[in-house]
Amino acid sequence: MNPELQRRHQHDQSVFHRLLERHDAIQRTVTHIDGGLRSVTTSRDPEVVRLLHDHVPAMHRRLQEGFRLRRWDPLYVAIFDQRHRVSMDIELRADGVVVEETSDDAEVVELIRAHGRAVDGFVARGQAAAVRPSPMPGEATEISS
Ligand code: HEM
Repeated sequence: MNPELQRRHQHDQSVFHRLLERHDAIQRTVTHIDGGLRSVTTSRDPEVVRLLHDHVPAMHRRLQEGFRLRRWDPLYVAIFDQRHRVSMDIELRADGVVVEETSDDAEVVELIRAHGRAVDGFVARGQAAAVRPSPMPGEATEISS
């Protein structure tokens, strides 16, 4: 990996590790819209808001570039494989971030919604959720900790 990409990856990693550590300070609601989801992810803590403002645009950019991460997680492999069929609209708000993520392809819509549930798991359980592969569409989501 070239040094610039390596530097970006290290930065992105430090941001999502910190988000996982601070998962208790994050609120999140997801609603299904035509072709995907709308998520509202917020915090009352300014540090966490700054992390969200960094993380979500950075992940959008990585998706556009095909700059993968979690290569061992089949859900993330699938979303990056389908990245040309994913649209993401991001609104940064004072208390967090609102995302609309959609696709014209029905199978990609299911991947987007499965990813939305994966983020729900990160918010609910932090690192304990992040060390496991994310449930694929149709797979049960864990409810216990
Ligand atoms: C508490 C921890 C985390 C929070 C609050 C969070 C938040 C978000 C949000 C709000 C989105 C936009 C999509 C959506 O709302 O469903 C997103 C997308 C994304 N996140 Fe995170 N995230 C967390 C952890 C992680 C981790 C651990 C990784 C990877 C190691 C990661 C990688 C990504 C990627 C690749 C995307 C873009 C892919 C897509 O949305 O389809 N996130 N994240």
